Amino acid sequence: MFEWILDILACPVCNNSLETKILKENDEEIIYGTLKCDLCNAKYPITDGIFNLLPPKRHLKNHLAKYRRLLRFYDRFSETYDEQYLNNPFFEYQRSVENRIINLTSPCGTVLDIGCGTGKQTLLLALKGCKVVGLDISKRMLKRVREKAKEQKLMDKIALVKATADFLPFKKLVFDRVYSIYAALNHVPKYKTAFKKIGQVLKNNGKIAITVINKQRILWWIYSLTNLKLNFLRKALRQNDGYLRIRLAKTGKLHDIWTHFYNPKKLKKILEEEKFQNIVLGGFFTFLRPKYDGKHEKFTRMEELLIYLDRKFRWKKPFNTLGYYLAIIAKK
Ligand SMILES: C[S@@+](CC[C@H](N)C(=O)[O-])C[C@H]1O[C@@H](n2cnc3c(N)ncnc32)[C@H](O)[C@@H]1O
Ligand SMILES: [Zn+2]
Repeated sequence: MFEWILDILACPVCNNSLETKILKENDEEIIYGTLKCDLCNAKYPITDGIFNLLPPKRHLKNHLAKYRRLLRFYDRFSETYDEQYLNNPFFEYQRSVENRIINLTSPCGTVLDIGCGTGKQTLLLALKGCKVVGLDISKRMLKRVREKAKEQKLMDKIALVKATADFLPFKKLVFDRVYSIYAALNHVPKYKTAFKKIGQVLKNNGKIAITVINKQRILWWIYSLTNLKLNFLRKALRQNDGYLRIRLAKTGKLHDIWTHFYNPKKLKKILEEEKFQNIVLGGFFTFLRPKYDGKHEKFTRMEELLIYLDRKFRWKKPFNTLGYYLAIIAKK
């Protein structure tokens, strides 16, 4: 049942194929075991049904501290991630947009979901009949996906991999589609490498759909100008990298998470350099600021109007590059 995932995994460091040793298994997954690379001698454990293919620490070099903080934050966030967004019309709207964007690529075959979190897209893609690899840097996020996949009897279609987007542990040309939804690629220090790797693991004619936070979001500018926060704006315009402030609902504590803010033109250029074609840029939350604090159960009339405009202008220039989030669809 799980042979399909063993066929596509490779060493994240040297891309060599891996030797599998199974210690405990059942019909749907390998529960414990190891994967070994004969070329660089690296060993990767399989525990609780999750393949841990993070590269050895020395390969993460000067970004190690960033990865550690991100990993710790998202591990903690996994406990309340789903609850935090319940009954929030802004978030429900966001999910409806993301689903439409995914559907525009006609999901099929074997697909990769980078930064799968608690599995919103992974489970949805499995329900559509795809074989899905849910990949995330946080093991606790992946554990949530595993619980849900078991409940929904989808384990035969899902494999879970702990890894980082800039060291994708797969052979070349193995995925029909690659997705990364809701800002996972904003947290990858070597984001250009991540796009290169995505291009390598995707089959020819394969498609991608990605959503990331936009550096050029118009509401940010308006907010800074109307609140006379010009220093904030100046700093924001200069910086490509910064810290995103996220509040964990459970503790009420704020966390500053390392983030790369994408410039739409540069993002398009990165994809062109990796030989992607038919690149389409869109945006959402262009006219309306997303509110994730859970105090809004219904949209006001004004917010409904702004959502209408958001839908109408999503793919139209110049609005397509001004949203809080950028959506990008492309073909290899
Ligand atoms: C905001 S969540 C989005 C999760 C999911 N796609 C969704 O829409 O709910 C971002 C996810 O990216 C993961 N992530 C952060 N940095 C990553 C990296 N370098 N490689 C892979 N995943 C990463 C986090 O652990 C987190 O689960
Ligand atoms: Zn290796």
